[in-house]
Amino acid sequence: MADSTRANWRAADEFLAETLVGHDPALEAALAAQAAAGLPAIEVAPVGGKLLDLLVRISGARRILEIGTLGGYSTIWLARAVGEGGTVVTIEAEPDNAAVARANLDAAGVGERVEIRIGRAAEVLPILDGGEPFDLVFIDADKESNTLYLDWAARLGRRGTVVVVDNIGRDGEIVHADSEDPKVRGTREGLEMLGRDPRFDATALQTVGVKGWDGIAIALVV
Ligand code: DHB
Ligand code: MG
Repeated sequence: MADSTRANWRAADEFLAETLVGHDPALEAALAAQAAAGLPAIEVAPVGGKLLDLLVRISGARRILEIGTLGGYSTIWLARAVGEGGTVVTIEAEPDNAAVARANLDAAGVGERVEIRIGRAAEVLPILDGGEPFDLVFIDADKESNTLYLDWAARLGRRGTVVVVDNIGRDGEIVHADSEDPKVRGTREGLEMLGRDPRFDATALQTVGVKGWDGIAIALVV
């Protein structure tokens, strides 16, 4: 009989990470620095970081936008995947988080390809310097603003841009249309937008693992 407990989700996820991702001193040091600075451990799981890496490489992305830097763990994954000559622009509302991320990115040897923009994404997105469209956008910030961020992802992207949204499951709370939790409401509204807005073609997968029960949406700008 399958024993579907959180402990087993974690154990299976750890097996997958050991088997497919392996140990990485720079990423582990980034997590240690993030914890030492008192930031919450809400970064993507190792298998989620590897998913971002693969999506960047499968799509051939050269210019990446991340909304929500935290301590830079996912940013390191993105910056490595984009390779030399690629760029990551990452937006972080909290200056203290941005300082942790900057140190982590520099220590990981990818600092030069990452521009951290400090400020509320709602204020930074409209003033991002022109430049080429983004090839991949990773949305992982305040869930209340997911529809706003999706709109910007479409506007700052192009046909073929890949959009990834973290945390779309929220312990299954997304089924509650009348939820009063603003994060659940924002997440639902983002998913509904992905289903309805003709600029996107999308799917979403639930995940269980070291981060509990959650999920990830992947969309293509069409
Ligand atoms: C939360 C945000 C995240 O990006 C995450 O991965 C997990 C939780 C949150 O705000 O609750
Ligand atoms: Mg997240």
